[in-house]
Amino acid sequence: MKVPTLEARTSAQAADTDLVVVFQDTRKKALAPQGGYSGTVEKLTKAKAFDGSHGSMQFLRFGGRKPAENLLVVGLGSAAELTEEKARIAGAKAWSRLIAEKVSSLNVHVDPVVQTRGFSSQTDSIRIVRAFVEGMALSGYKWEKYKSKKATPAKDEVTLDKVSLLIKDKASANLLNSEMKSVQAAAECVNVTRDWSNEPSNEGTPEYYAAQAQKFARANGLKCRVLREADAKRERMGLFLGVGQGSDREGRVVIVEYTPAASKNAKNIILVGKGITFDSGGISIKPSMKMENMKHDMTGAATIMGAVLLAAKWKIKNKVTAIMGFTENMPSGCAIQPGNVLTSRSGKTVEVINTDAEGRLILADLLDLAQDRKPDALINVATLTGAVMVALGKQCCGVMGNDEELIGRVKTAGEVHSERIWQLPLWDEYFEDMKSATADMKNSANDPYGGSIRAGIFLKQFIREKTRWAHLDIAATGDGMGHIPYYPKQGASGMHVRTLAQFAADFS
Ligand code: BES
Ligand code: MN
Ligand code: ZN
Repeated sequence: MKVPTLEARTSAQAADTDLVVVFQDTRKKALAPQGGYSGTVEKLTKAKAFDGSHGSMQFLRFGGRKPAENLLVVGLGSAAELTEEKARIAGAKAWSRLIAEKVSSLNVHVDPVVQTRGFSSQTDSIRIVRAFVEGMALSGYKWEKYKSKKATPAKDEVTLDKVSLLIKDKASANLLNSEMKSVQAAAECVNVTRDWSNEPSNEGTPEYYAAQAQKFARANGLKCRVLREADAKRERMGLFLGVGQGSDREGRVVIVEYTPAASKNAKNIILVGKGITFDSGGISIKPSMKMENMKHDMTGAATIMGAVLLAAKWKIKNKVTAIMGFTENMPSGCAIQPGNVLTSRSGKTVEVINTDAEGRLILADLLDLAQDRKPDALINVATLTGAVMVALGKQCCGVMGNDEELIGRVKTAGEVHSERIWQLPLWDEYFEDMKSATADMKNSANDPYGGSIRAGIFLKQFIREKTRWAHLDIAATGDGMGHIPYYPKQGASGMHVRTLAQFAADFS
């Protein structure tokens, strides 16, 4: 899926549609923007057709009598109350309207934003513009790989492939242009994550993702290494192999590395992702209702793939490595059974009392592998527990870890991109119920309490003393985020890709 070309210019280029944003004054009245469209906006306001409130819109067709064919006016509400997230949402709503109206090229008039009072500095207004355009760019995603041409309704076709921002001041235009490149890269990488996550598991096998990772790595100058099951065996990754043992498809561990040009003072950031290409639950099989959603159980891996690509496109100054474990959790004659004991790469033994608690098993081995590379920060990302949705709803993802400062940094990076993250406790008492009479631990407590924390405390058993570690449980936010206008109505969201790349960029 192609992201529209985004650019900033000081003079207009022919486009069929102009977009003008409109603020409200303190009495909630639309403020006519300076420039050519002030009269038009005043008329709309007088006719009570438009009031400039956040997300309000009017689309006008001039039939050839005005400089552009069409005009879209978009309300942003009061400048004082405008946040980046509100700007992103307004951008997303504007995008749907532009697509519905079959617009193919667009000039966005940025000067009204820069000139409007209520912004403390030019930098603030540029962040608002960036967010508005980001809302548009993130909205332009469609998952239609498996729709036959005939079935694709022509009215949904995305035709808008170029967005130009008009801003008079040359220096601001340059500044904005680099922001546009950064936004475009972000949307492209988020879309990689969405494509991966949406891929059904008959096509989206471990082998498929390994090949895809190699393709993206090659195209972006990144190193990529693929471990097959024989390699995992040599690495003694008994938990990773145990989970995949019931599947006919061979698992893969895929390692993608971005190294900055000046690597001397670079921090070593390692991301670890859960890539269960399908989670049937195994012998502890899941109910069939909504089981199809378990094709998304590799979204942790997809998210860190998007993040390492974005880190590379942003040319950040830290080193970022994504370690993704792809395998399938299936019941079969050779699948692991409840009560089986597996030995992890770390040497610790695990009694698998529930084969559906498989994510933590593969992550334990991947985290151990990752720690051999001495990370300055280690972050794993996983659709780990249904319980995180019970605890926190779909409004945020959960974070746990062993280092408050690191968790703080992850949360701050999330705030930059309005991708919410909320911390859950990780007290050692939670491990009590996971002690096993047979092995070093069980993989589940098999009761309905504190499920997300139990998964977290299990992972903590594999974290070495000096490692700074955080765990993101994205089971609620990885897909089905259509209530936020710039995420697809259904399927993968691509949420937290931008957060992770931002974290990596800012880490020091
Ligand atoms: N992949 C699931 C978690 C999940 C559930 C993600 C729903 C997205 C939506 C994970 O492997 C799982 O099955 N977890 C179990 C753990 C339990 C068996 C201890 C769960 O959450 O029920
Ligand atoms: Mn499971
Ligand atoms: Zn799972």
